[in-house]
This record gives sequence, C-alpha cells and structure tokens, in this order.
Amino acid sequence: MNAPLKNNREAWLQGPSADGSIQCSAVPAKRKHPWRLILLGAPGVGKGTQAELLTERLGACHLSTGDVFRAAGQLRDCDQSPAMKAALDYMRRGELVPDSTVWEMVRERRACLLHCGGFILDGFPRTLGQAESLKELMATENISLSAVVNYELPLDEIVSRLSGRRTCEKCKSVFHVTERPPKVEGICDRCGARLIQREDDRPASIAVRMEAYDRSTAPLIQFYKNLGLLMPIPAKGSPDEILARTMEKLEETVSNK
Ligand code: AP5
Repeated sequence: MNAPLKNNREAWLQGPSADGSIQCSAVPAKRKHPWRLILLGAPGVGKGTQAELLTERLGACHLSTGDVFRAAGQLRDCDQSPAMKAALDYMRRGELVPDSTVWEMVRERRACLLHCGGFILDGFPRTLGQAESLKELMATENISLSAVVNYELPLDEIVSRLSGRRTCEKCKSVFHVTERPPKVEGICDRCGARLIQREDDRPASIAVRMEAYDRSTAPLIQFYKNLGLLMPIPAKGSPDEILARTMEKLEETVSNK
C-alpha cells in the first residue's frame, strides 16, 4: 500500500498560471503503471468520498470538476471571468455547466491528466460530448483509462446522503451529519476549518441535478460499456466496505489484462 497522499491539488483547483507559479506542494509519485480512473454515478452516491479513499490507496490524484467551480466561487467577484460567473449560476441551480466551459477548464489543466502519478476523475466527463473530448485528448497523448467505476445506489439513499452532507470550506473534505460525522460538530477533522452545507444540496437543486444526471450522464454508462471499461459497483454500505469492493474489482481487472 502507498503512503497516504496529502495532495492539496492546487494546480487542479486554481489552474495554470502564466508564470508557472501555481504548483501542488505535494504531487503523486511517478508510477510505471499509473491508475487512470473515472468515477461515474448519480450526484450524492459517494464519488467524492471514494475518490479521497482511492487516492490514499492508489496514489493517483483526485480531480473533481465540481471542486474547481466551487474554488472559483470563493474568488473575489472582480477575479471571476464572465464564463466562470455564468458557470456558477448553472451550478447553483443544479444544472450542468455547458460543455464548452467545462472542456476549456479541463484542457487548461491537462498537465494534471498527463502526470505520471495517474488520476481519479470525479464529476467529469458528464456528457457524451465531454467523454468524446477526453477520449480524443488521451488518444493524442497516448495514454489510456484503467477503468470506469460506476457507483449504483437507490434514489432514496442518495437523497439522504446529499441532505446530510457537510463540506469543509477550506480543504473540501466531506462529512455526513450521521453517517460520517466529524469529531467536533461543524469543524473539519483534517484542517479545523468550518463545515458548510453546499448551496446545491437544497431540495429544489437536488431535483434538477438528478434530472440532469438521468438525461446527460446516465448515457455514459453504455458509452464506457461499449469500450469494455465499465466496472459497476454497488454503493450500499459504509465507505470502507465500498472501497474494499472497488479495490477487489480493480485488482481483478488488472490481473485479467
Ligand atoms: P459535483 O461536485 O461533481 O457534484 P455531484 O456529481 O453532484 O456529486 P456530489 O459531489 O454531489 O456527490 P458525490 O457522489 O461526490 O458524493 P459525496 O462523496 O460527497 O458537481 C456539482 C455541480 O458542478 C454540478 O451539478 C454541475 O452544475 C457542475 N459540474 C461539475 N462538473 C461538471 C461537468 N463535468 N459538466 C457540467 N457541469 C459540471 O457523498 C455525499 C454524502 O454522502 C456525504 O455527506 C458523504 O459523507 C456521505 N456518504 C458517502 N459515502 C457514504 C456511505 N457509504 N454511507 C453513508 N454516507 C456516505
């Protein structure tokens, strides 16, 4: 097992700077066979939670597009580009951000995808257009996906996970008021900052997000199945049980290659 990765993901969250000054303080170690994973699943199924746990196990970097938008939302108004302001409005309503904005943002950060430590993509791709763009970029760079993990859970359990979620406003660690409570109520175990409820975890936004998932993201299941990459995983049980299920399947996948 790898040593736990304390990657602050600065390069991913802030994007490239003209002078190259934005770099992660700790980056994943180079690996001969890096893991390159996509995590699929409805909003709230537990992708972010699993991505954090998988990062510790596999040494690859957790890259979430939702986290990039939320980080941009914390910038001063005058530092947000018009495209980013529009993206944040889509996000607050629970709608998907347009493909062109998302792809521009991911393309700018392609160094994170190409890093020899590997990646765990969480929340991207979310439409067939985004999946095609990623496929093209990876083919151009001569890198391939290890697997696409699809987490599956009944809707009522997903809604309860979303409504109880609390997120650290600083380091973005994720908790749940009953299922994964912090040691001190309202305070992040990892960095001591305040825990907050996400704006898009209100009931009206949750309904819009579920609808966007069914319409735009669920078709990716067939897309990756056709490519022979899909790995369905039941997302019932504790985070550690789901992690163990995921690791078992990933190890099987590798030994069959
Ligand atoms: P994003 O941040 O990607 O959100 P999401 O996909 O809606 O997923 P969530 O972060 O809500 O849930 P999760 O599956 O990560 O669950 P978590 O681990 O937190 O996107 C947000 C928005 O940004 C989108 O709506 C869109 O507007 C925009 N966006 C982002 N990417 C985009 C893209 N590519 N294209 C277009 N628009 C894009 O877990 C949920 C809760 O459950 C937590 O409280 C957790 O502690 C708890 N929990 C987790 N596992 C368990 C368990 N096993 N048992 C009990 N509780 C658990």
